[in-house]
Amino acid sequence: MIIALDHVAIAVPDLQEAIRRFAEDLGLELAGTEDVEAAQTSTAFLPVTGTRIELIHPLRGQGPVATWLEKRGGGGLHHLCFRTDDLDADVVRLKERGYRFVTEAPTPGAHGTRVIFIHPKSAGGVLIELAEHPADGHP
Ligand code: CO
Repeated sequence: MIIALDHVAIAVPDLQEAIRRFAEDLGLELAGTEDVEAAQTSTAFLPVTGTRIELIHPLRGQGPVATWLEKRGGGGLHHLCFRTDDLDADVVRLKERGYRFVTEAPTPGAHGTRVIFIHPKSAGGVLIELAEHPADGHP
């Protein structure tokens, strides 16, 4: 079951410049950064009450976010992520309703999460991530 808006992800061609914008100019707190090998991204997290902004940048200049930035010709809103307390049950339920996913099975995300993306063609052009945090999900 979906329990929260986990984060809003913004793809950025220059991570340091984007951190300056969100932390210094807009005044959000930079909570940390993490390289997520499975997603080939360098990521920065800036919490805002109840959710957070996640800046995503290609790790070593490669991967799906690099392709996205090239196709789009710059940065922009990349995806929404909903937090779920039972990722596997939500995947089954959504597959039954005809939703397609970017990968067959969940993959490792930041903060020890398990994540999966609903294909934007299944969701009105919006890339939607579902994430299960270790504290919420089953062991
Ligand atoms: Co995300």
